[in-house]
Amino acid sequence: MAEQDVTSELRGEALWVTLNRPSVRNALSRAVNLRLQEIAADLEQRDDVRAVVLTGAGDKAFSAGADLKERRGVPAADSLSFVNAIGGAINAFGEIRKPTLCAMNGSAYGGGLELAMACDFRICVDTAEMGLTEVRLGIIPGAGGTQRLPRLIGEARAKELILLGRRITAAQALGYGLVHQVVPAARLAATVEAWLAELGACAPLSVSSAKSAIERGHGKSLDDGLAIERECYEVTLYSEDRDEGLAAFAEGRPPRYQGR
Ligand code: COA
Repeated sequence: MAEQDVTSELRGEALWVTLNRPSVRNALSRAVNLRLQEIAADLEQRDDVRAVVLTGAGDKAFSAGADLKERRGVPAADSLSFVNAIGGAINAFGEIRKPTLCAMNGSAYGGGLELAMACDFRICVDTAEMGLTEVRLGIIPGAGGTQRLPRLIGEARAKELILLGRRITAAQALGYGLVHQVVPAARLAATVEAWLAELGACAPLSVSSAKSAIERGHGKSLDDGLAIERECYEVTLYSEDRDEGLAAFAEGRPPRYQGR
């Protein structure tokens, strides 16, 4: 991998991770996928990071998905290791316990959209288009797309996008509930910062526990889901930040959360 194919930079308490291969529309090479997995794994030890922003370099694409040039010529049997690398990267991002925000600086296709979908929030520029185009390439989404898209937007819309390999605009994606906000490119960074500031006002342990409750409860019976919620609640119940939240409320001042 070229040294700078993925860059990461701590800005305040957010780690900004940038896919940096704009000349190939930030396509996800095997090396990029392995690096993304490393970054996600490192985050477990990073107490200085409260949120993660994933974005792409350039103004054309967040990511055009799997590196199709790298895949070409790879025998079908060997290509499974490429599929595992991209799936591993996307799962690793999905498993980050801190809040994750995808700043979609441009279009997202295939694995690029699957990666965006593994984040908690998607803020998208108004010129972006997106889709899971795999059926047009003789394959199917193989890094979580068939599972994450219906969970996010419902089965009917997911079938429309996946079975037709349709590309939709940012405005349509907003209407489908696939992205959270659409902004002109010039306002992307400031909008992301505003979301980060809002997150910054929340207790970190609460955010990660609530995230875990939502994700672990998915597909469970109500009773099982409520048991998971109770377990996640208890993580916050005995935290210093819970005491700080109550004290700050009583004293009429903003809380100073420590994440413990
Ligand atoms: N893998 C490898 N290279 C890719 C790529 C991918 N997924 N997507 C784009 N590129 C390369 C192009 O081959 C081109 O390289 P070249 O300059 O050597 O010819 C370069 O990136 C620019 O692509 P181009 O299509 O000219 O840019 P664009 O801005 O007009 O369009 C896209 C960008 C993303 C809309 C378009 O490239 C595209 O549709 N890519 C395929 C997306 C896709 O179906 N992904 C699914 C993967 S499963």
